[in-house]
Formats: sequence, structure tokens, C-alpha cells
Amino acid sequence: MHLSSTISFLTTSLLLLSTTTALPANDQNRRPCDKNKTRKDPLTSCPLEPAPSLPESALPPTSLTLRHVLLGKGTQNYTCANTNSPPVAAGALATLYDISCQVTDPNSRAKFDQKLIPDFLKNFSKSVQDLLPSTASAASVGDHYFRDGTTPMFVLNDGHFVAAGKVGGCAAPSSATGNENGAAVDWLKLARKQGEANGGIEEVYRVHTAGGRAPAACSKAGLLTVDYVAEYWMYG
Ligand SMILES: *[C@@H]1O[C@H](CO)[C@@H](O)[C@H](O)[C@H]1NC(C)=O
Ligand SMILES: *[C@@H]1O[C@H](CO)[C@@H](O)[C@H](O)[C@H]1NC(C)=O
Ligand SMILES: *[C@@H]1O[C@H](CO)[C@@H](O)[C@H](O)[C@H]1NC(C)=O
Repeated sequence: MHLSSTISFLTTSLLLLSTTTALPANDQNRRPCDKNKTRKDPLTSCPLEPAPSLPESALPPTSLTLRHVLLGKGTQNYTCANTNSPPVAAGALATLYDISCQVTDPNSRAKFDQKLIPDFLKNFSKSVQDLLPSTASAASVGDHYFRDGTTPMFVLNDGHFVAAGKVGGCAAPSSATGNENGAAVDWLKLARKQGEANGGIEEVYRVHTAGGRAPAACSKAGLLTVDYVAEYWMYG
């Protein structure tokens, strides 16, 4: 190689090098082309691929990417003005557990949706650790509560949170276990309220609900809490 062509070659290489290093840092949310590098749920390291599909329902669909599949176990709250008055919804309080490990495995998924969710409700005092087959899921990953009457919050232990609002709802399937006599709260689609999130969660679906619905009439005045369990599918 002549000196001039060597220099030109070096210059081109340097340019290429600097172009390479100038590329933006890899966004961790982008799906890698390498099929074996599966996207994982950062809360548990459980795989989110092959991506489990959201249970079919009349709720508006999503075009976003699945981030977490969580189990919520807690109470739906109502207030009762007096005996025989209709209960009025007053938020909810639940502990969240990551169940990505369960729902991405087709073998455990069916069992989970159809049996384990209602099992939680049947024996509410039983710990999640007793009922979840994977140790990756046994520790709670966050909390669900209401900031005000219409703002459900999902606050995760990794600092991510979303303040949401209802954008769609439908009655839980009448055939579902956990919905005997219409006992299950509605399935919902929630979406992030303007500017109120950290971590990129945009939409939350509440599905496979068991329990949580109030009776038609109160039996006494005051706070009425109804145990419930549900899956929360988070997209962003
Ligand atoms: C991906 O993983 C599968 C199963 O673990 C393996 O058989 C296959 O060779 C891997 N492919 C690549 C490209 O590494
Ligand atoms: C809802 O009920 C729980 C008990 O399960 C209670 O700790 C919580 O403070 C109640 N929240 C509201 C808003 O009443
Ligand atoms: C509920 O779970 C608790 C704790 O694991 C256990 O002691 C109790 O026997 C269970 N009750 C029923 C009805 O299964």
C-alpha cells in the first residue's frame, strides 16, 4: 500500500470507529435479533418470551410491549352509609407478586389461570409462597392502592410506578372460577394519567379476577372490605 492510500485507509477506519462509538447506547427495551437472548422481566429475571398473550376479552386491545405480569392479592374497599344501603366503591389495597415465570410457561399457565387464582381466594390466609410454584415469584414486587377515588397506583420495588385511569371495562366471564354468583370484580383496561409514571408503564390490564365485588346491600355502616385476587398485565 502506498503511504497516501494507507493514510486514507486509516482515516476511513478512524471515521468508521468514531461512527460506531457515536451510535446511541442500546435501549434495553429493544428486542434483540438473537433469538436466544430473550427479554426478561427485570423484577424476577423470568423470561417474557415467547410473549404470553393477554387473555381474550372485550377490552380494548394494546399495541405495546409486555413488561410485567403481576398477581394482586388484597381487598376491594367500599363504604356503607348504613344497613341496607348500596356499598360505594372506595379504592383497593393489594400486594403485587410477579407471575411472569408462571404465565410464560404454557404448562403452568392454564393451571395458573384456572386453578391457582381461585385457590388463592378460597384460602386467603394461605401465603403466596405456599401457592406459587416458583421461588422467583414468592417475594412481593410492589403495591397497588388508590391515591384518590379514581386514581389507582401501581408502585413497584424497583422505583417504577404508574398512576392510572380507567379506559375500558367488562364483566368477568360468568363461567370463571372465583366469579360464582358474580363475585368477581370487572376486568379493566387502565392507562397512565398524563405525566404520571416512572419506568415506561403505559397500560395496565386487570384480568382473571376472583372475588372483590361487593354484595348488593350493606349489612352495617362503615368500611366494607372484600378479598380479591387478579392478574395485572403491564405494557409499555
Ligand atoms: C438457542 O437455544 C437452543 C436451545 O437452548 C439451542 O438448541 C440453539 O442452538 C441456540 N441457538 C443459538 C443460535 O445459539
Ligand atoms: C382498604 O382496606 C384495607 C384493609 O384491607 C385498609 O388497610 C385500607 O386502609 C383501606 N383503604 C381505604 C382507602 O379505605
Ligand atoms: C388454608 O391455609 C392455611 C395455611 O397454609 C392452612 O393451615 C389451612 O388448613 C388452609 N385451609 C383450607 C380450608 O384449606
